[in-house]
Amino acid sequence: MYNTLLTELTDGILVVTINRPDKLNALNKEVFVELNLVLDEIVNNSAIQSVIITGSGTKAFVAGADIAEFVGLSTEEGIAIAQFGQDTFLRIENAPKPIIACVNGFALGGGCELAMSCHFRIASADAKFGQPEINLGLIPGYGGTQRLTQLIGKGRALELILTGNMIDAATALQYGLLNYVVSSDSLLDKAKEVLKIINTKSSLAVKEAIHAVNASLDYSKDGFEAERNSFGKCFSTDDSKEGIRAFLEKRKPVFNRQKES
Ligand code: COA
Repeated sequence: MYNTLLTELTDGILVVTINRPDKLNALNKEVFVELNLVLDEIVNNSAIQSVIITGSGTKAFVAGADIAEFVGLSTEEGIAIAQFGQDTFLRIENAPKPIIACVNGFALGGGCELAMSCHFRIASADAKFGQPEINLGLIPGYGGTQRLTQLIGKGRALELILTGNMIDAATALQYGLLNYVVSSDSLLDKAKEVLKIINTKSSLAVKEAIHAVNASLDYSKDGFEAERNSFGKCFSTDDSKEGIRAFLEKRKPVFNRQKES
């Protein structure tokens, strides 16, 4: 049914698997288009009571936005890409049915942002989280600057975003990014155990609870717009051109700061 996603509905729980394992499930445009189609299905199909999002294979949940699609983007194109990513993830955050991320490996960049847009997160013990966009001369563009700050606080968020370092599942649990860490073979079972409880509750009350909890998030200063504009601005720099090319050529980037010193 989809090119980049697998879906399976059992006992009211829809499991959505991002399925580009040879690219560590990187989010290209087609994944975003198909995620929006799945979101339509989640809203409209009353047989779906709740949702799990996970990644195909054992290595990655999602290793980020597809960097190959970033080559040669202008500021305006960068802003447009960020807008599409932000809008998609806002639809997940505001979905009327619970959506849990089951993080089975790398959740980097857009992968960490996808997991953070879900209502909560469960990870396998070998999962790794990070916002490595800085290594490309970029910043997070799909809500990461906003949601990471909300979830783990400003100091920890800035350290992760500015260093590009990864944290392991135990640290992510301690930071409050995760609800549970379990073995990889019990990851989906743990999520289903929680969702089975929620699926016995009033669907209207569940929807209103999500709505009310989300209303506690203060997006009034429109940090998302600031994120989009800063993300777009980065694309007009030599550093981002170098960072993106270096990743695709499998070498370390040499940024201007290093060239000058
Ligand atoms: N976009 C596009 N392709 C990606 C990707 C991404 N975000 N992440 C991984 N891939 C591709 C690699 O290019 C490689 O493709 P190839 O086999 O055709 O060359 C394949 O997935 C496997 O990745 P590889 O880098 O060989 O695996 P690894 O085990 O050496 O490293 C990671 C794993 C996750 C550390 C590394 O892939 C990585 O750093 N990915 C990018 C993370 C990132 O910067 N995300 C933010 C993007 S804005």
